[in-house]
Amino acid sequence: MNEAAKLVRRSVIKGSGSALPARIMTNADMSKVVDTSDEWIVERTGIKARHIANDSETTRTLGTEAARRALKHAGLGADAVDLIIVATSTPDQTFPATATLVQADLGITRGAAFDVQAVCSGFVYGLSVADAMIKSGQAQCVLVIGSETFSRILDWTDRTTCVLFGDGAGAVVLQAEMVPDSPASPGIMVTRIRSDGRYHDKLYVDGGPSTTKTVGHLRMEGREVFKHAVVNIASVMDEAMAEARITAADVDWFVPHQANRRILEGTARKLGIREDRIVMTLDRHGNTSAASIPLAFDAAIQDGRIHKGDLVLFEAMGGGFTWGAVLARY
Ligand code: ACO
Repeated sequence: MNEAAKLVRRSVIKGSGSALPARIMTNADMSKVVDTSDEWIVERTGIKARHIANDSETTRTLGTEAARRALKHAGLGADAVDLIIVATSTPDQTFPATATLVQADLGITRGAAFDVQAVCSGFVYGLSVADAMIKSGQAQCVLVIGSETFSRILDWTDRTTCVLFGDGAGAVVLQAEMVPDSPASPGIMVTRIRSDGRYHDKLYVDGGPSTTKTVGHLRMEGREVFKHAVVNIASVMDEAMAEARITAADVDWFVPHQANRRILEGTARKLGIREDRIVMTLDRHGNTSAASIPLAFDAAIQDGRIHKGDLVLFEAMGGGFTWGAVLARY
């Protein structure tokens, strides 16, 4: 039998899109709200500005806009989609899932739509679930959307957290394709998701329907998160690359969750990744949680850095703790 002729079913990224609220809040604007400075924020995090949603911009509206742009980029109509996954920790309502609201906005009445909740790792979790659904034959065309309005759950009197986050949405369209079983073929090659609930109280929201009956505010032990982030992210990236039998030098683009410049630099040092291979948008977006990876990915496609055929490694870590990595050829 000719091995080269063997075909496998892969989840291929056909398009990407993003959406940002109109309002930009700079560090100078932030220093009018809490006792902080541009110097402190830039030095500790790399963030210079973030977008903040107005009352009419919600996780649903931003997610729908990003999805529309991703479908347009893919050259596909909404009627092609048979699964929508929205990764978010800031849904429009406690239920139904924001994914169903996006489904309605897009005029889709078939297939399924649900949310995944893995905080900043949500997009990586969403890709992983979408890939499993496609590989098992349960879905043909999946919209994976990361959409967040973290500004709504920030404690705007807490300078240790409110300076870090922003709002926005990004989306990709995945489609099932039969491709030659080769690392050169397009599509998702490896997905890895992890969690360790022992650390649930290091980064959390102090409210919820079943406890306080309120939405609550984000709380974080920043140093603890930092300590675990570099170790967890590096280990899951290592695992993904080992499974694909590649090294960091083979990866064209690292598209990490945009939490903090120092976390990204620490991870890059640990794995020997060249900094000019890392897509960074946190200077202008801040940390947009589940939206940050698809926002960064879309930015790098639009500015011409990421091309078809490039090998891309997505990685994230977030509350839970949750973390994960996805390796894909675009
Ligand atoms: N402006 C000015 N001063 C501040 C601010 C601020 N916004 N926030 C804290 N400070 C002060 C503190 O009060 C403290 O002052 P003190 O020494 O007088 O007590 C001083 O700065 C140092 O505070 P630390 O909390 O020790 O600062 P640190 O160097 O740890 O930096 C940071 C804080 C940036 C949050 C860091 O811990 C970090 O990067 N953690 C990772 C967490 C992260 O990125 N989370 C994002 C969500 S999780 C994720 O997406 C992976």
